[in-house]
Amino acid sequence: MTTTVLAGRNALVTGAGTGIGRAIARALAGAGARVFVTDIDALAAERAAAEIGPAAGAARLDVTSAAETDAVFAAAIDAFGRLDIVCANAGISTMQRVVDLTEAEWDANMAVNAKGVFLTDRAAVRHFLARGGGGAIVNTASLAGKVGAALLAHYSASKFAVVGFTQALAREVARDAIRVNCVCPGFVRTSMQARELEWEAKLRGMTPDAVRAEYVSLTPLGRLEEPEDVADAVVFLASDAARFMTGQAVLVDGGIYMG
Ligand SMILES: NC(=O)c1ccc[n+]([C@@H]2O[C@H](COP(=O)([O-])OP(=O)(O)OC[C@H]3O[C@@H](n4cnc5c(N)ncnc54)[C@H](O)[C@@H]3O)[C@@H](O)[C@H]2O)c1
Repeated sequence: MTTTVLAGRNALVTGAGTGIGRAIARALAGAGARVFVTDIDALAAERAAAEIGPAAGAARLDVTSAAETDAVFAAAIDAFGRLDIVCANAGISTMQRVVDLTEAEWDANMAVNAKGVFLTDRAAVRHFLARGGGGAIVNTASLAGKVGAALLAHYSASKFAVVGFTQALAREVARDAIRVNCVCPGFVRTSMQARELEWEAKLRGMTPDAVRAEYVSLTPLGRLEEPEDVADAVVFLASDAARFMTGQAVLVDGGIYMG
């Protein structure tokens, strides 16, 4: 989708080297924003920024590090003058039954998916408050942040945390003209999904193709979700078209969950 609804705005996206984050960065740029692409994989961030064009910035950012987050925000603000839109998208997943789940898996999912969103949003809010005039935050939660997903209890818990955090922060900063929302994607065709197909197939004694077919059959709109399906919703939430929306967890899942 190419529009100019974000012309003159500056955005920072985490986990934007590939998958949904890369699509978000491209869609924000397609809508006229200047985009700072960040990822724990520095090369992936640079590649994604190069695809967007010379106006895009890039940096390595591990969202589990407060020091790195604050330093990258400072660099982006220095490069662009200000930020208007921040998308806390970075996330990881593993699949395991709770009876076999390790503390390390629990901690890793919580660190990236929940703490990472807190650290990114904190840096965004500090900047928006310091410069005045508000801003827009769009976090990436998940369908698994709305309904518990088997084999993904730890991931579900981390994504419910994102939804709760989004609501609480939205209430705290609404009077400062800062809107905070999140998107809840379904079964999105990314490298994360490719890994999950393998894990789920193994855990349930199926083939990855059979698991993929099940994802499609669970989706009323009848296909796997594409990263761009999520990205267009993020552009909307980041734009003035969503000016009276805050604290929302917007399902972008092809109709899997209608709640
Ligand atoms: N793929 C899906 O079906 C799906 C569904 C719902 C929600 N999500 C969420 O969407 C987001 C993006 O997922 P995706 O499918 O594009 O995954 P992906 O694995 O394809 O891409 C994730 C990106 O995040 C980066 N990353 C990982 N750990 C990081 C860290 N500590 N700091 C910064 N960057 C880090 C990776 O390098 C990668 O570039 C995640 O939050 C994920 O939980 C995905």
